[in-house]
Amino acid sequence: MRDFLKRLPKAELHLHIEGSLEPELMFTLAERNGVALPYASVEEARAAYDFTDLQSFLDLYYRGMSVLRTAEDFHDLAMDYFRRAHAEGVVHVELHFDPQAHLIRGVELETVMEGLGLARRQAERELGMSTALIMAFLRDRPAEEAMSVLERAAPYWELLDAVGLDSAERGHPPLKFRDVFQRARLLGIPRVAHAGEEGPPEYIREALDLLEVCRIDHGVRCLEDPDLVARLRDEGVVLTVCPLSNVRLKVVERIEEHPLPRLLDAGLRLTINSDDPAYFGGGVLDNFLACEQAFGWSEEVFIELAGTAIEAAFMSRERRLALH
Ligand code: HPA
Ligand code: ZN
Repeated sequence: MRDFLKRLPKAELHLHIEGSLEPELMFTLAERNGVALPYASVEEARAAYDFTDLQSFLDLYYRGMSVLRTAEDFHDLAMDYFRRAHAEGVVHVELHFDPQAHLIRGVELETVMEGLGLARRQAERELGMSTALIMAFLRDRPAEEAMSVLERAAPYWELLDAVGLDSAERGHPPLKFRDVFQRARLLGIPRVAHAGEEGPPEYIREALDLLEVCRIDHGVRCLEDPDLVARLRDEGVVLTVCPLSNVRLKVVERIEEHPLPRLLDAGLRLTINSDDPAYFGGGVLDNFLACEQAFGWSEEVFIELAGTAIEAAFMSRERRLALH
């Protein structure tokens, strides 16, 4: 089964590129840039990745990315991930990135875009991978700041496949970002949003109704609201589910209790993703394997999940046809 899952062409729709920063590269970049880390070693960093909830992870996630300073750093970060993903049979990656988390530290949007752009072109050329770019807004910061980032990104609007919404969910409903997402809609930029990871089903409704998103990131808490489940099914809304992330952030206690089988039985369109692979114990293939172990799914189920990801991806018609 491992061989089969590895060979299966997989598209990843939910990946935070800053969350792909492995401790090894974190140490290399810390040294290169003279940034102090709160860990004495790679092992100590890994041992600290023991989370109680989303916020406890975000604290380390924002701290870890402090080593990213130059365009070269962003290039190295992304290429490091693309190579690992390629080795796992991932053929297409959609990367979220968090410009505000860098702007706050004095790292310009131009620096981030230059580094990620270089890596994306290199991945296409050397690995035959396609990629898409999702500029995410931090929902625990003011909506005005998100709006100003969107305007500041004007030179890059053409390069953005979508805008997204991430960071601490509770207390920061999609409603807060209605104007920002409306502006993105008027600019012709597609929209996705994290909703229903730690937040209530109502946030999923708001993301659909107020932000007019085409996919929901996570969305697992929809099961608490049967009418919402029926709506997601009827409208064919795709959820980008991240099972190992949900275990590590205690959205579920154990992978065996993960709602994925129930979501599948409800007829929802699902994809399997890694979220923050350096922090949550593995990439897309590890997430597939964890599901196989926990749920005993057949090859057909994985073929369906991988097919849904390719259907729901931001990719050209030609690329989709080539991968199907
Ligand atoms: N949830 C919300 N925000 C995030 C995550 C996540 O898992 N990873 C990086 N930003
Ligand atoms: Zn995420």
